[in-house]
Amino acid sequence: MSAGRVVASAKHGDRPLAVLVLAAGLGTRMRSATAKVLHRLGDRPLIAYALDAARKLSPDRLIVIVGHQAEEVEAACKSHGDCRRICFVRQAEQRGTGHAVRCATPGLAGFWGDVLIIYGDVPTLRAETLASFVEGHAKSGAALSLLTACFRDPTGYGRIVRGTSGEIERIVEERDATPDEEQIQEINAGIYCVAAELLLEAVGSIATDNAQGEYYLTDIVSVARRQGRRLWSCGIEDPAEVRGINTRAELAEMEARLRKSIVEKWMAAGVTFEDPATAYVGADVKIGRDTTIGPNTHLRGATVIGEECRIDGSAYIEGARLGARVHLKFAVVITDSSIGDDVEMGPFAHLRPGTDLARGVHIGNFVEAKKAKLGPGTKANHLSYLGDVTVGENTNIGAGTITCNYDGFRKHPTVIGDRVQIGSDTQLVAPVEVGSDAYVGAGTTVTHAVPPGALAVSRTPQRNIEGWVARRRARESGAAAAKAAAGASEKPPRSPMKTRVRQRLRVVGRSRRRRLVGGPAQEPASKVAPRRKRTQRGVTRVRVARPASSRRPTRR
Ligand code: UD1
Ligand code: CA
Repeated sequence: MSAGRVVASAKHGDRPLAVLVLAAGLGTRMRSATAKVLHRLGDRPLIAYALDAARKLSPDRLIVIVGHQAEEVEAACKSHGDCRRICFVRQAEQRGTGHAVRCATPGLAGFWGDVLIIYGDVPTLRAETLASFVEGHAKSGAALSLLTACFRDPTGYGRIVRGTSGEIERIVEERDATPDEEQIQEINAGIYCVAAELLLEAVGSIATDNAQGEYYLTDIVSVARRQGRRLWSCGIEDPAEVRGINTRAELAEMEARLRKSIVEKWMAAGVTFEDPATAYVGADVKIGRDTTIGPNTHLRGATVIGEECRIDGSAYIEGARLGARVHLKFAVVITDSSIGDDVEMGPFAHLRPGTDLARGVHIGNFVEAKKAKLGPGTKANHLSYLGDVTVGENTNIGAGTITCNYDGFRKHPTVIGDRVQIGSDTQLVAPVEVGSDAYVGAGTTVTHAVPPGALAVSRTPQRNIEGWVARRRARESGAAAAKAAAGASEKPPRSPMKTRVRQRLRVVGRSRRRRLVGGPAQEPASKVAPRRKRTQRGVTRVRVARPASSRRPTRR
């Protein structure tokens, strides 16, 4: 027996223990293309619960029987806890629970102890319950022990048929039961503890003479009885623990119960939930004392929330690590990121995987960060995309800053130093560096390194055109008046095609007309906008489309 067995250890005597987890079935009643044990409950696949309980018993062998979507089920097992000691065996064709155990024979080669059989679809069964069952089995000296429960509605379960003196005779599946047997409320939980030699012999001798034409593991009971082996049964204290998941409705019901119990556990540990009914906390999440969780908050994966944090609500947080006193304002999404103490974030902000915010960082509304490392005290308060960027401490990222990290082929990094001021509407075209204490002027497109302490500006200088608005308004109202006059003389409306042709002609004839009427202010409204070109301070050239021979600068 392994020295490290936590729960079951000393009590199980000298016999080694193997745990067999049945997880090969499709789960027809789920009506799904996905194997039942891969369906998720409280943020983890069903199989993870059975494995957790099994591991807590520190068994000498842990065997998982996979079949339907075997690779995916194995992968799910491997991504939940230490899987080095799991022996996977395949049941290529799912011909019943008895057949599944028969397929596990290679995994039990040379094993002489007791085998505890559990199912991958019974997620709330606790390790403590299993441990006391195994202990009771050892004490009873039985060769085969059963865990049973009494359900007011036993629909779907195998019923325990007892003889006149109360001894177990056999288990009858619902589909094979007589109307009288259907009335039996004592059910088979599907959890057995069996001497290995009896188990292997019994599963080798069962047949398929039943309604489903399957090898029923339940038939080992009759085999053991025929052989005169001692049987023992143990009624479970809380029957809800052995409820299996067979349908989507049962899954949803279980989800609600599990969610409630997780939230209650954290409330008992000192966490405030403003609306427990809309808090979704995964089984692997950890929350610090005096943290307050607002409505509609989803905490998933291996998320860890520190002490005295506040999550306002409508948050989706997966695989994140939050320090102490973090304030997440309304509506944030955080995935696989790390957040230091005293960070403020939101409302409406998004941290994508690989983001690391140091102590005291502020992330404001409509900021998205991906693989962004922000040093202590750095702020990005409005409307920014920070991707593949490393920022030092106490730097200020202005509103509308974008790291242009992707050139269509590759992602490139941006590095920004300490105490930098990045002006609003800056584009940082990566790869690029901005040294410590540098300033970047608003509206700058940074395409090459900014040395420490320098100011980088790339915007075009501003020019003002005096009186432009008045001229434009006069032009517009002139056009409106002309249109009204045209309407009064009851000219038929021009066809759109004719109008376009006239516009063309007008552009060509503009130079002549300009000479006659004195400048663009009196031109019809429908003209094509002229292209203006700055020449010297305060002077603007207006260029219009016309033959090169007639081109001449017009002063305004
Ligand atoms: C089984 C029991 C029933 C018991 C109930 C408790 C049998 C015949 N019936 O019925 O008495 O009340 O569990 O939950 O054993 N599996 C395989 N290979 C197969 C078939 C199933 O690995 O060929 C696995 C499934 O993945 C599942 C478990 O065995 O994890 C139970 O299978 P399921 O079909 O749900 O059995 P039940 O009909 O619920
Ligand atoms: Ca079942």
